[in-house]
Amino acid sequence: MRNSATAFAPATVGNVGIGFDILGHTVEAIGDRVYVERSAARGVRILGITGLDVSLPLETERNTAGQALKSLVEAERLDYGFDMRIEKGIPLGSGLGGSAASAVAAVVAGNALLEKPLSKLELLKFAMQGEKVASGSVHVDNIAPSLFGGLVLTVGIDHPRTKQIPVPPGIRCVLVHPHMFLSTKEARRILSKTVELSDLVWQCANLAGFISACYTNDLDMIRDAFEDVVVEPQRQALIPGFRAVKAGAMSNGALGCSISGAGPTVFAWCEEPAAAAISKAMVAAFAANGLDCDLWVSSIETQGARVID
Ligand code: HSE
Repeated sequence: MRNSATAFAPATVGNVGIGFDILGHTVEAIGDRVYVERSAARGVRILGITGLDVSLPLETERNTAGQALKSLVEAERLDYGFDMRIEKGIPLGSGLGGSAASAVAAVVAGNALLEKPLSKLELLKFAMQGEKVASGSVHVDNIAPSLFGGLVLTVGIDHPRTKQIPVPPGIRCVLVHPHMFLSTKEARRILSKTVELSDLVWQCANLAGFISACYTNDLDMIRDAFEDVVVEPQRQALIPGFRAVKAGAMSNGALGCSISGAGPTVFAWCEEPAAAAISKAMVAAFAANGLDCDLWVSSIETQGARVID
């Protein structure tokens, strides 16, 4: 049996615009790493967190990775414990699924040290307990793709079922992260609890259309369906210049452009040749609003979280 393991879990675009809380995809370029070591002392301890300018809680129950691994340890009734170190590669409060990635990397590394490792589907519910610490609610749109990889739809919370949706070949995701912090809790708090029936119909049609178009490589239908009529209109005011950023992406050939997770990162799907012009337009639009940005252009990988050492 191994005594220690390091796992990597990729960043994710939650919601993918039209699938609020149930759809997400991985971003190959960035992610978090968690090192876990078996200890004779029961329970879970966080020995350090690196990679951020600000400090995150070291108390196990207040940390997404700590809470995720603790729930695994308790459910498995282990008579030993784990010490862990977290290396953040995903900017905090960026809308790129940083809390989910840490939770996922923690349970994947811990799992590698179990006598009988669990399946990824079993690990999902423990990682979800970690995500709850960060956002105040259990949602899976970042956790599931970070764990499984690719574009992932999740149905159900108590007994979640996941499906990896095929992504048409040659699709790229442009991600522009403006240098500002946006709290997921706050971005959820401002949302209306009710939806107009006509918006529900429109949103359902768009989600169904988007997913069927992914299965059939129908880029025109992806473009037509790629519109969030419920959440984006309520959140866009939280991101200075969002409308100009989106207009810059769409006028340069994007298939769709929306807020990544709870924001402030904005993402656009496109065919590979359009990625450079779209990137330039999005970054320029944020700059015109006084915001410097990080930029990534990523394919949508299918590997998901894994043990790397
Ligand atoms: N689906 C969540 C939201 C993602 O949009 O609030 C947050 O990480």
